[in-house]
Amino acid sequence: MDPVIVNHPFVQTRLTILRDKATDTDTFRRVLGEVATFLVYEATRDIPVSSRTVETPLETLTAPCMPDPAPAVISILRAGNGLLEGAVRVIPGVAVGFVGLERDEETHQPSEYYCKLPDRLSQRHVLVVDPMLATGGSAVLALDRIAREEPMSLTFVCLVAAPEGVKAVACAHPGVRVVTASVDRELNASAYILPGLGDAGDRLYGT
Ligand code: PRP
Ligand code: URA
Repeated sequence: MDPVIVNHPFVQTRLTILRDKATDTDTFRRVLGEVATFLVYEATRDIPVSSRTVETPLETLTAPCMPDPAPAVISILRAGNGLLEGAVRVIPGVAVGFVGLERDEETHQPSEYYCKLPDRLSQRHVLVVDPMLATGGSAVLALDRIAREEPMSLTFVCLVAAPEGVKAVACAHPGVRVVTASVDRELNASAYILPGLGDAGDRLYGT
């Protein structure tokens, strides 16, 4: 499945701010939260809705409402939390989960240190959020864990992807849609995305 690239000017101009090494931590955090709402808006465009009866002051009609249970958003800690708040703001009734992963600086292999998933995942559409999809190791590990619960659909939402990461997700999870603001050029020898924006977690938390 080809990634969905969100080319909207509001997203692309914010991505420029996030790429800029002169952007301070407060601005990085705020702008990442803003861009998250647009990415999630695109990622959930086709999520099925339920319907209910509503009485306007003039008449009664059947109108769309969120399904029960509502979609879930699962954040890959830490940097995923930079997208999480924006997602929670726009998905009514959303359930939230966390998978804590850390990439080894030498091997670039991720390891899991925490996992807490919402209930009834098999009845929910699920978005997994993490700003960076580099080698794809973290995304694939998180998706392996979540796919075991057999959600109704799985979408991976990121800000910047490398071609290597997109390929890794497509190979391991061909049914997962990737929604991103950019597929950048390549990875460097340390598995950082070029041109990228550096270490998203460090820029988000000032570490
Ligand atoms: C970063 C990023 C992704 C991962 C991407 O997290 O937020 O989770 O690297 O790299 P990959 O595609 O090669 O696996 P990191 O492990 O640095 O942890 P952090 O969010 O705590 O900073
Ligand atoms: N993780 C990041 O935060 N940035 C990259 O470029 C690669 C992995």
